[in-house]
Amino acid sequence: MTPDRYAVAGNPVAHSQSPFIHTSFAEQTGQALVYERLLCPLDAFEPTLRAFAAAGARGCNVTVPFKFEAFALARRHSPRAELAGAVNTLRFDEHGWWGDNTDGLGLARDIERNAGRPMAGQRVLLLGAGGASAGVLGSLIACRPAALTLANRSLDKAEALVHSHHSWAQAHGVSLSAATLADCEAHAQGGFDLLINGTSASLAGAGVPVQGQVLRPGALAVDMMYGPAAQGFLDWARAQGAEGRDGLGMLVEQAAEAFCLWRGVRPETAAVLQALRERLNAA
Ligand code: ATR
Repeated sequence: MTPDRYAVAGNPVAHSQSPFIHTSFAEQTGQALVYERLLCPLDAFEPTLRAFAAAGARGCNVTVPFKFEAFALARRHSPRAELAGAVNTLRFDEHGWWGDNTDGLGLARDIERNAGRPMAGQRVLLLGAGGASAGVLGSLIACRPAALTLANRSLDKAEALVHSHHSWAQAHGVSLSAATLADCEAHAQGGFDLLINGTSASLAGAGVPVQGQVLRPGALAVDMMYGPAAQGFLDWARAQGAEGRDGLGMLVEQAAEAFCLWRGVRPETAAVLQALRERLNAA
């Protein structure tokens, strides 16, 4: 039997760990599939994907910078993709592509299960209002923190996301507010229990864009990045007396959810996360 084909589609994709993760899941669950890297020219995402699907592929993950384009290409969307306006997982269904977004669930699972920090009733600070934050906000709200502050350099982008998630937050009893990076400290007297960095500040060579006082002692501080890009954030978290965590767990958990969507089986993630850490440390 020919194995089913999947890929991670993006630009760049050379350093993506998704082939390792999905190949590990496939071995663990006995699924016959191959998982590739699909480098898409910046101006040719759609034709590259259509050619891949026409060649018999069953689906793909989508990474930067194509998550919004992927949303537009999907004929149907999961509610969480609809809320995010972005898609990281496509399933090439015969009657139109299905678009989902598993990033937020992956982040929430990593925080609640892997790090052992349930968000219910907590005070959460999410930094950034770009694609990364838009992709996870809905799932964070679904975990029912008491309050969630979305802080961004430019306030208008934070306000727009708060506006689009207003009803969702109300339905979950979450107090959702927008702030600038400079004034977010005022939103949690005593400090936040959980900080999530969804900005690309470290890629721009800038430090963590808020003061350490935003954290309560012993808080959890999570960066959505991993590898060298997350190191400055992890050092900063430790210096504040917080527990630092990179985005590797989120990466594995979002992949597990995509795998489940495609194959109908949920893989175990702990061993794969451990193997991935060892692999990256050895590199
Ligand atoms: P992504 O898809 O990775 O989220 P993006 O949509 O370009 O990328 O968003 C980048 C985010 O990082 C934005 O919230 C951006 O703030 P602005 O909306 O004000 O531009 C934030 N960001 C980037 N560089 C930053 C820096 N040096 N300090 C603070 N925030 C920064």
